[in-house]
Amino acid sequence: DRPLILVSGKLISHVLTRLADRFDIKEIARPDAELLQPDDRERVRGIAASFLGVPASLIDALPNLEIIASYGVGYDAVDAGHAAEKTVVVTNTPDVLTDEVADTAIALLLNTLRDFNRAERYLRDGSWPDGPFPLSKGTLRNRRVGIFGMGRIGLAIARRLEGFGVAIAYHNRRPVDGVPYTYHATLGDLAAACDTLINVAPATAQTTRAVDAAILQALGEDGVFINVGRGATVDEEALIEALQARTILAAGLDVFANEPHVPQALLDADNAVLLPHVASASQHTRKAMADLLVDNLESWFDRGEALTPVPETAAISRKA
Ligand code: GLV
Ligand code: GLV
Repeated sequence: DRPLILVSGKLISHVLTRLADRFDIKEIARPDAELLQPDDRERVRGIAASFLGVPASLIDALPNLEIIASYGVGYDAVDAGHAAEKTVVVTNTPDVLTDEVADTAIALLLNTLRDFNRAERYLRDGSWPDGPFPLSKGTLRNRRVGIFGMGRIGLAIARRLEGFGVAIAYHNRRPVDGVPYTYHATLGDLAAACDTLINVAPATAQTTRAVDAAILQALGEDGVFINVGRGATVDEEALIEALQARTILAAGLDVFANEPHVPQALLDADNAVLLPHVASASQHTRKAMADLLVDNLESWFDRGEALTPVPETAAISRKA
């Protein structure tokens, strides 16, 4: 018999097409158990979870749930600790999006430094015949770049930055074996040694609002902050103040504290480049993420093994 998979939130159609070959599917718009009939709650054995995540309340409402296959590498929106207590395995989609997100970090950094988005608006507005676009204050030349989070994505960003001839340093919970860049044991030490900070750290209790007023201040007047990790990792109020007071030069943000809400003060800031959380959002990479999500579900129900379980649930194997 075919296991029932709950598809929670919006996922690309490739997920649904592939799931339908092997599973029964029930779609709900939000990860909310109230949207399910009692007999469906009994039948659900897996969740295909969008970026909206999975709260403990949904896990508790599904007595026969075995696996939550989440879309994306960051799984802070899934209550993986609660899933582990209930022996529910959680998977994410690492590796397949590493290069895309690293490319985005570099593109956002260059755009932020060189003001290309505003330059394009200037051309489209018809302002060019009135005179050249103002010279950018920012440049990548002679920058000292600090990377917060030296996982696979952090490393891919650093490898790309090597080609630009900038100094590269990082902060991570621990130094990473085989990584040749300067390690700083605290984020404060990293910020003091750098003028450019790129955040790719996962959102955890330890990293919540870690990029605060003091960290931003330490970057200095030429400071640039790039965020392709999570909005929760930065104190957004402090960032807005630093941009308004120009105690830093600029910020490039793909993620926000309360998505899809973006504070008006950021929308008004001429020294911020803002993207709607698109770091991994190419058709190529989103399809690869969808395939890995479905591969995790198939592997679990065919062989009792998840392909890419998150660390909190890596020890869980399928009950016979
Ligand atoms: C998206 O933000 C992801 O974590 O993959
Ligand atoms: C984080 O950097 C990851 O790719 O897991």
